Amino acid sequence: PADATVFSMIQPTGTVHLGNYLGALRPWQSIQDRAAAVAGGPRVIYGIADLHALTVPKRGRAAAATLAAQRREAVATLLACGIDPERATVAFQSGVAGLHTELFWQLSCLAPMGYLNRMTQWKDKRGGDPARERLGLFAYPVLMAADILVYRATHVPVGDDQSQHLELTRYLAERFNAWYDCDLFPLPQTLYCGGGHGKKVRSLTDPQRKMSKSSGDAMSLVYVTDSPEQIRAKVRKARTDSISDSFYFDPEGRPGVSNLLDIVAGLQEVPMATVERDVAGLRDYGAFKGYVADVIVEALRPVRERYARYSTDTQYLQSVVDQGNAAATEIAAENMRRVRDVVGL
Ligand code: ADP
Ligand code: NA
Repeated sequence: PADATVFSMIQPTGTVHLGNYLGALRPWQSIQDRAAAVAGGPRVIYGIADLHALTVPKRGRAAAATLAAQRREAVATLLACGIDPERATVAFQSGVAGLHTELFWQLSCLAPMGYLNRMTQWKDKRGGDPARERLGLFAYPVLMAADILVYRATHVPVGDDQSQHLELTRYLAERFNAWYDCDLFPLPQTLYCGGGHGKKVRSLTDPQRKMSKSSGDAMSLVYVTDSPEQIRAKVRKARTDSISDSFYFDPEGRPGVSNLLDIVAGLQEVPMATVERDVAGLRDYGAFKGYVADVIVEALRPVRERYARYSTDTQYLQSVVDQGNAAATEIAAENMRRVRDVVGL
């Protein structure tokens, strides 16, 4: 629709895995491409949440150097995954002239402590340890609301793990509008992104859990930048089951096999019935896992190749970010002028 703005953000912490790719970055790419195909289509902004990366602060100079490197890698990874700076604005949260944090403050002044206190992210992340109960960790959902509202975004593509944050964002947008008697903020809609078939990609070594960078087990995830050899080794080690002569989709009974089939269906963008037909002739795990690994290796080939090209081209990465930060700042600055006007600043 006219005046629509799509916004989403990813943290610059750690390499992007198949779950992030199928559940976030590939949907981002297709949204960006569909938006570009429509004359006057929605504006698309993808952010790198480098301020959010500080909610779990790391100490010292070495940590600062790591964060700086991860921020560059995040840009290279977005481009590798098909985000096109001609079609989408790529910006750092910290690169938008303090405007995210200014709106964060405005929203903080309206955000009820009780609401924030009930959010599962706070219950999960404080971990019962008073030393970790820091204001930033408590308040970051308000920063996330500011990230979205500073662009007056109308659509936010995220996984279902983010639904509580989007609810808070809508709550704060409504509260701001009501408080200052204005209609400045649209209520952003959630565009749900799943994994393969709208579900989570699961850990290769423990299919009861989702694939996650925080699992602590390198064999449990495939990174989009893994070499073909690494991909093959991880798929070979994936946990499956004792039915070794036929391969079909049964997420309850055969979670490991079903996860691999789901990954194939997701990467090939075909229905599960098509994948089941394609693997129907395979009669042992060697052949099945070889097939799955081939599909992953091929599907990620363009990502790997683009990553190899961009990740060392620091000049190009810098130019993408400079342009993206400037474009995002222009939009956010106009919106913040309106916010200040409404508030009396
Ligand atoms: P992680 O769980 O590895 O820490 P994040 O929480 O940073 O990943 O998630 C980044 C994005 O990737 C989110 O939009 C999230 O919904 C999506 N995502 C993460 N893990 C998966 C998964 N296993 N399957 C599908 N989507 C996922
Ligand atoms: Na997570």
